[in-house]
Amino acid sequence: MRSIKWLSVLLVVLLALGVGIGAGAQDEEISGDLEIFSWWTGGGEEAGLNALIERFAELYPNVTVTNSAVAGGSGVNARAVLVTRMLGGDPPDTFQVHAGEELNALWVDAGLMQPLNELFEANGWLDTYPQGLLDLISDAEGNLYSVPVNIHRSNVLWYVPANLEEWGVAVPADWDEFVNVTCPALQDQGVTPISVAENWTQAHLWESIALAVLGVEAYNGLWTGATDWTSPEATAVWETFDAVLACSNDDRNSLAWQDASLMVAEGTAAFNIMGDWAAGYFLVDLALEPNEGFAWAASPATDGAFMMLSDTFGLPMAAPNQTATLAWLDFLGSAEAQDIFNPLKGSLPANTDADITNPELYNAYFQDAFAAWTNDAIVGSQAHGAVAPQAFTNGFATIIATFASDRDAASAAANSATLALQTGLGM
Ligand code: GAL
Repeated sequence: MRSIKWLSVLLVVLLALGVGIGAGAQDEEISGDLEIFSWWTGGGEEAGLNALIERFAELYPNVTVTNSAVAGGSGVNARAVLVTRMLGGDPPDTFQVHAGEELNALWVDAGLMQPLNELFEANGWLDTYPQGLLDLISDAEGNLYSVPVNIHRSNVLWYVPANLEEWGVAVPADWDEFVNVTCPALQDQGVTPISVAENWTQAHLWESIALAVLGVEAYNGLWTGATDWTSPEATAVWETFDAVLACSNDDRNSLAWQDASLMVAEGTAAFNIMGDWAAGYFLVDLALEPNEGFAWAASPATDGAFMMLSDTFGLPMAAPNQTATLAWLDFLGSAEAQDIFNPLKGSLPANTDADITNPELYNAYFQDAFAAWTNDAIVGSQAHGAVAPQAFTNGFATIIATFASDRDAASAAANSATLALQTGLGM
């Protein structure tokens, strides 16, 4: 492949210039503008990225970074802007994209990304990144297309221990207990049992419920074609989702994910299900202590399973400043960068050379998440691009919105089955 050869030459030049590998010294040879595109703005999102950019600026003082973050949780707005820019011949130098189908089924399949094999080989990342994650950023020929900066957990239930005690409720073991015992006990006291925010957070909640109701194997089967979306079990996911939504706040659609997390921290809601960027928000923005100001458990009945997603950055074919972008990617994948970013973001480092076992850097939340990551069954998040293409995620947003008003489980199940077929799931 021409682009791989080209990349090899560029890497040899970069290595000769002393880029990256063992980064620490300043590199003044690399210069120009570097535009970094993401959706990391505001609470729980921007602290990690800002810290990375600050360190990168020290290492590469002649590169001028533009942080082009587009607000909107889970990238709902950023992705629309990105498509326009990529197809309009105006790509950013690098952009945030989830490992898995969000990367592969769109950008890699369209031939718009450059393989990064040489970068991985030169840094020894083929040995220091988990194989399952490498698989999510590779094509069938084994070419690697992006650099993961983290591993987030999607199936997490958040709460405040002292509040649960005051209200006399426990962390529910499963959704039946939540709906039939926990929810009415809290509603009687005027407390919102579970806070839920805008559409994508509802899809996020749905996938945690799907994992609980279907179990690991049948949940995975949704994305491989092995599980029938119209089966009684898959339809039951919608029925449970309906009952859980009935225990949530009515103003869901006008809230951002941070608003729903804040309801838990402030004690107007008892529980919230969100990925562990919520830990970043609790720790950094709200300055809460783990296990005091906030606590966590696997979302009901998903103990033993870790639903993962990974934020990665790639190199578009037409990136304007490829040299500076490679320097950024080289830095991003390093243990140093991952130890700067992840303690602020709430995620685990993807590079196993990072200092995850250091409790000074990674507190009790991270230690728990790491134990789960290394012991649990790993499944992929649909809401965050790991297991389904963007086309499915977009269509599913409409199904979720329709369900929120008509509450028709059979029709949501049938529409999901059609969408799965249309978007080639399991093909
Ligand atoms: C996810 C992303 C996380 C976090 C979250 C909320 O899709 O992977 O890093 O940003 O959205 O916006």
